[in-house]
Formats: sequence, C-alpha cells, structure tokens
Amino acid sequence: MDNSQDIAFAEDQKIWVDVSLGRRRFLQWGLFSTVGLTATSIGGFFLRYLLGNSLQIKAGEWVDLGAVADLPSGQIHKVTYSYQTTDAWKRIKREGMLYTYRQEGHDTYTALDATCTHLGCLVRWQEAAGHFSCPCHEGTFTRDGLVVSGAPTKPLRRYVTKIENGRLLAEI
Ligand code: FES
Repeated sequence: MDNSQDIAFAEDQKIWVDVSLGRRRFLQWGLFSTVGLTATSIGGFFLRYLLGNSLQIKAGEWVDLGAVADLPSGQIHKVTYSYQTTDAWKRIKREGMLYTYRQEGHDTYTALDATCTHLGCLVRWQEAAGHFSCPCHEGTFTRDGLVVSGAPTKPLRRYVTKIENGRLLAEI
C-alpha cells in the first residue's frame, strides 16, 4: 500500500511523521462516539424520569390572609399564614408571617415579609415610632419596608396582593 499521501515532514522535528488517521482508528473513533452519544441520550431520559418536575421553578403560591373586613385600612396587621407545597417528592407545610395594610384611599394592600433581610430575625411594627424594628442588630425599616438604619442593607420583601371574594390573598 502506498502511504505517501499520509506522511508529512515535521519541520520542527526534522522528521517524517505519519499523519494518516488509519481505517482501524477511524472505525474505533466512530464506534466510541456512537456509544457515547447513545449512553448520554439514554442517561438523560432516565434522569429526567427520576427527577420528574422537581427542578421546575414554580410560580408563587397564593395564600389567604383573611377577610378584608377584618383588615381595616389605616392599621398595620400582623398575619401568619401557612400553605401546602411540594418539595421534590414530599408534600410539606410552609409557614410565615407578614405585615399588611391598606393606605387610606387606596384599593390595594401592601404586604411585607416580617423576616428581616439581614439575618432573618422577625421584625416588629412599632406604632409609636412609626417603623418596623428588628431586635437582633437594631435594624429599622420604614412603613414601606425601606431600610432606615442598622445592619440590614435590603428592604423588607414585598408581596403582590389581590382581593378575591372579600378575602385578601398574597403571592408568596
Ligand atoms: S437580623 Fe435584623 S438587624 Fe440583623
């Protein structure tokens, strides 16, 4: 067999080198590639089957905060809530606390998470001072949840709210 087309002169090494792929190596490479792609495809389908929808980002849960009649405007209301959700394969109960209020003359409610954005302590509404305060590191927030002083650097988390059938709902 004439391999004269498959060799080349390596200028840096000053020698002739075989640059042919070779039939056997070509077939091995093709076989390994095919097996690798097939295994990856089957593995991907199997993994998808095992994980199900557990990795999907879920839309927020709407939780019931109570009857609007019990949440009069002009006051700040502390509300606890709970809801059932799925965490991977388990049904679990989640609970939380927020503050909600309706500004005079407005149709919508503001809902602020009671969890301090510094290290997660629960803030309290201080009626006399007119702000939320966190007992842990002297964080204070305005009525709208903005940072006034102390360790926190981020505002309190704000939830979207809506009223349905006379009840206030928040998207958690
Ligand atoms: S946890 Fe609230 S100020 Fe640190």
